[in-house]
Amino acid sequence: MSDPHVLILGAPGAGKGTQSARIADEFGVEHVTTGDALRANKDMDISDMDFEYDTPREYMEAGDLVPDAVVNAIVEEALSSADGYVLDGYPRNLEQAEELEGMTELDVVLHLDVSRDELVDRLTGRRVCDDCGTNYHVEFDQPETEGVCDECGGDLVQREDDQPESVKNRLDVFDENTQPVIDHYGDHDGFVSIDGDRAPDAVWADVRDAIDAHN
Ligand code: AP5
Repeated sequence: MSDPHVLILGAPGAGKGTQSARIADEFGVEHVTTGDALRANKDMDISDMDFEYDTPREYMEAGDLVPDAVVNAIVEEALSSADGYVLDGYPRNLEQAEELEGMTELDVVLHLDVSRDELVDRLTGRRVCDDCGTNYHVEFDQPETEGVCDECGGDLVQREDDQPESVKNRLDVFDENTQPVIDHYGDHDGFVSIDGDRAPDAVWADVRDAIDAHN
């Protein structure tokens, strides 16, 4: 069995990061995530590319998409060195989907389907370790000691784009730009839509079965 090429799609807060970490661990593949890559390079100078803003930070904090040229280059570089991968956060519009088709072939396309009310609760309640990036939730996934990461003892903080105003914009950007990407992949042989409105372990059981069935 070769290392699987997995694409995971879903709205902000659908659980892509949570399930991708499990996929990477179980199947021994790389977790390629544009969100983490951009957060690590928020102040990268893109002024020579002639976009509205000079760094990714302004786009991300507002919940808007970072320009395609910046994100396409990050993904192309990451996929070129990965045998198997789970790709999370890309493509987010049909232009990026077209770029991806020139870079790689996908075995499995997972779609995590979650209602909008649940997405808002998950995002506004998320807390993230500012050292190691582990995700928590004030209600659904609490650390042993409030405000402190179980994994590394780091401080738990709220992402700038998890403020209510940004969350609303991110969900609107998803409906307009990324829902058409999900519709586009509906015809792919490896497409599986999963009810993501359940607890993480129940979602994981379906995610693992879908990858096993298409690899
Ligand atoms: P990115 O970091 O990719 O954010 P996102 O897609 O908005 O996704 P999230 O990380 O918010 O959610 P997730 O689905 O991973 O959910 P998670 O597992 O954390 O992108 C951030 C920004 O970067 C974008 O807005 C954009 O500006 C830019 N960007 C990124 N990619 C780009 C691209 N391709 N093009 C242009 N710009 C790009 O879970 C969320 C919470 O819910 C957690 O607290 C978790 O503990 C909890 N949770 C998870 N699963 C469950 C469950 N089953 N039940 C209950 N709680 C759960």
